[in-house]
Amino acid sequence: MNITQTERPVTLIIGSSGQLGSEIAAAILNEYPGKTLVCCDLHTDSTPDGAEFETLDVLDKSSLEAIIKRHQVREIYHLAALLSVKGEQNPLFAWRLNMEGLLNVLDLAVRHKVGRVFWPSSIAAFGPGTPRDWVPQLPVMDPRTVYGISKLSGELWCQYYFQRYGLDVRSLRYPGIISWRTPPGGGTTDYAVEIFHEALRCGSYTSFLQAHTRLPMMYIDDAVRATLELMQADAARISVRTSYNVTAMSFTPMELAEVIKLHLYDFRIDYREDFRQVIADTWPAVIDDQVARTDWGWNHHYDLPALVSEMLTNLATTRSSS
Ligand SMILES: NC(=O)c1ccc[n+]([C@@H]2O[C@H](COP(=O)([O-])OP(=O)(O)OC[C@H]3O[C@@H](n4cnc5c(N)ncnc54)[C@H](O)[C@@H]3O)[C@@H](O)[C@H]2O)c1
Repeated sequence: MNITQTERPVTLIIGSSGQLGSEIAAAILNEYPGKTLVCCDLHTDSTPDGAEFETLDVLDKSSLEAIIKRHQVREIYHLAALLSVKGEQNPLFAWRLNMEGLLNVLDLAVRHKVGRVFWPSSIAAFGPGTPRDWVPQLPVMDPRTVYGISKLSGELWCQYYFQRYGLDVRSLRYPGIISWRTPPGGGTTDYAVEIFHEALRCGSYTSFLQAHTRLPMMYIDDAVRATLELMQADAARISVRTSYNVTAMSFTPMELAEVIKLHLYDFRIDYREDFRQVIADTWPAVIDDQVARTDWGWNHHYDLPALVSEMLTNLATTRSSS
């Protein structure tokens, strides 16, 4: 049977120019060639081949509604947000963007019968009352940043829309995401990306987190695969409608530097903590993601040595070809 353009399942990504949005867009085009993909953001430097781009402020609900109607959208990945560090610089706007943006998406998804929505939470939804090690799926959650408060509230709104309206909304609590194609968006785990750029550029790095600050992390390829696998999973296998714990590894700046030194023998790291240390101190060190592994088969592929090798190889190749 010939599938015409309008009969194809249309996927919308909001925040498509960011660290995660740009990679999820590329992966969807690569893995599901039959899908029609519409990318939305405040701006774009480039849209992946095969996708359409629409300029959108997710706070402009009528423009979002027009896009959903015009393209007959059936699936949304909502990734537009202000992250932890930028959120603390502008708390009231962070709350507005992160909450109103999500509520616009959830409300319009119900109204226009969008089949499925993905929205990410974060380890920032945890707080000092959460156990630091082996954080279970449903621990005490007392976030201290406006970003974390918006993520915890967003999780509850997602569950509410599922229970009240039957909206198939799915979510992951991403740890720090480490990628080489796109820069990070202003979070507390950004050091774990910057360190690779500086290691190759000048052979040294000053960490804004202390040597022994252990945080959960994940390589971008695992984060994208987790997202697409969750969205593909049979609805009967999704037992968590707030947000799933997912992780791949946990390390400290010192441990990361030691593995980088196995590749770049002269690499040096020193430590000058700043305001981001206070945020990191309220986050857990190690996450237990057994529920995601049992429910829909989550399994990470990249550990710390594999992550370091991928980052250095890909960034070195990019540097030599530019
Ligand atoms: N990157 C991480 O380490 C990490 C960790 C945990 C959770 N998350 C979550 O994943 C999602 C994506 O994060 P990211 O790292 O890609 O962030 P990012 O900052 O790199 O990208 C966000 C994108 O949203 C766009 N945007 C901002 N305001 C907008 C608006 N009003 N309308 C439309 N677009 C707007 C930005 O232009 C940007 O391209 C966020 O919800 C974030 O909280 C990310």
